[in-house]
Amino acid sequence: MKAIYFGLTGASGRMGQEILKVIKKEKVFIFSEDPKRASAWIDFSSPQGMRKAIDFCVKHKLPLVSGTTGLASAEEKKLSTASKQIPILWASNMSLGVAILRHAIRSFSLHQEGFDYQIIETHHRYKKDKPSGTAQSLQKELKKVIKKNISDPLAIRGGGVIGHHQVLAMSDEEVLSFEHTAIDRAVFARGALRAVQWLVDQRPGLYEIDDIFAMKKKRK
Ligand SMILES: NC(=O)c1ccc[n+]([C@@H]2O[C@H](COP(=O)([O-])OP(=O)(O)OC[C@H]3O[C@@H](n4cnc5c(N)ncnc54)[C@H](OP(=O)(O)O)[C@@H]3O)[C@@H](O)[C@H]2O)c1
Repeated sequence: MKAIYFGLTGASGRMGQEILKVIKKEKVFIFSEDPKRASAWIDFSSPQGMRKAIDFCVKHKLPLVSGTTGLASAEEKKLSTASKQIPILWASNMSLGVAILRHAIRSFSLHQEGFDYQIIETHHRYKKDKPSGTAQSLQKELKKVIKKNISDPLAIRGGGVIGHHQVLAMSDEEVLSFEHTAIDRAVFARGALRAVQWLVDQRPGLYEIDDIFAMKKKRK
C-alpha cells in the first residue's frame, strides 16, 4: 500500500500525540509538516486552530480531516465554504461505535408513544466544550427521529473519562439505554486515519463518517 504523508494541527495535544503513537504501528502513514510532501492534513485542536488548518489546506490544496469540536456557526460555515475547494471530513466523533450508536438511535422511530428521551455524556476534567460535540450530534439525530421536545444533553466533567455517551428512552414501564464508552483514545486516532485514507481519493465536498460506510456498502 502506498504511504500517505500527512500533517497535523494539534500535534502536541492529547489527540495529536495519540495519532503519532498509532502510526508507529501502521506503516501506511508518515507524519510530515511539509505541505509540499503532505497529501492530507489532520486537525484535532481548537476552533481557532481549525480555522488556521482550513486556510492552510485551502492554500496548499490538501484534503482535511478535522475532529475539533466546540464549533460556532461561523466555523461550521467556514468548513462548508472551504469544502467547495478541497475535500473535508469533519466528525464530532471518529469512532466506529458512535457511528453505530447513531444508527441505533434511528430505531427509536419504531415506537415513541409514552417515552421520554435524554442524552447524558461524561468526559475528563480537561475537556473544554460542554456538552460534547458528539452529544450535540446525537441530539440532532434524536430530533430527526422523535417528533416532540427533548431536553438538552446533560454533561458531566471529571477524572480521566475519555468519553461516555448514553441515550435513554424512558417510559412508565421500561428504560432503554444505548451507550458508548471510549476506553482508549486510539479509537479516535484510528478513525481519523481511516478517514484520511478514504478522503485522499475524494473530490471537494463536506463529508461525514457515514459517507465512508455508504461508499464501502455500494462497492460490495
Ligand atoms: N472527533 C473526535 O473523535 C474527537 C475525539 C477526541 C477529541 N476531540 C476534539 O479534538 C480537539 C482536541 O482535543 P485534545 O484532547 O487533543 O485537546 P488538547 O490536548 O487540549 O490539545 C489541543 C491541541 O491543539 C493545539 N491548538 C489549540 N489551539 C490552537 C491554535 N489556535 N493554533 C494551533 N494549534 C492550536 C494545542 O497546541 P498548544 O497547546 O500549543 O496551544 C494542542 O496541541 C477538541 O476539540 C476535542 O473535543 C475530537
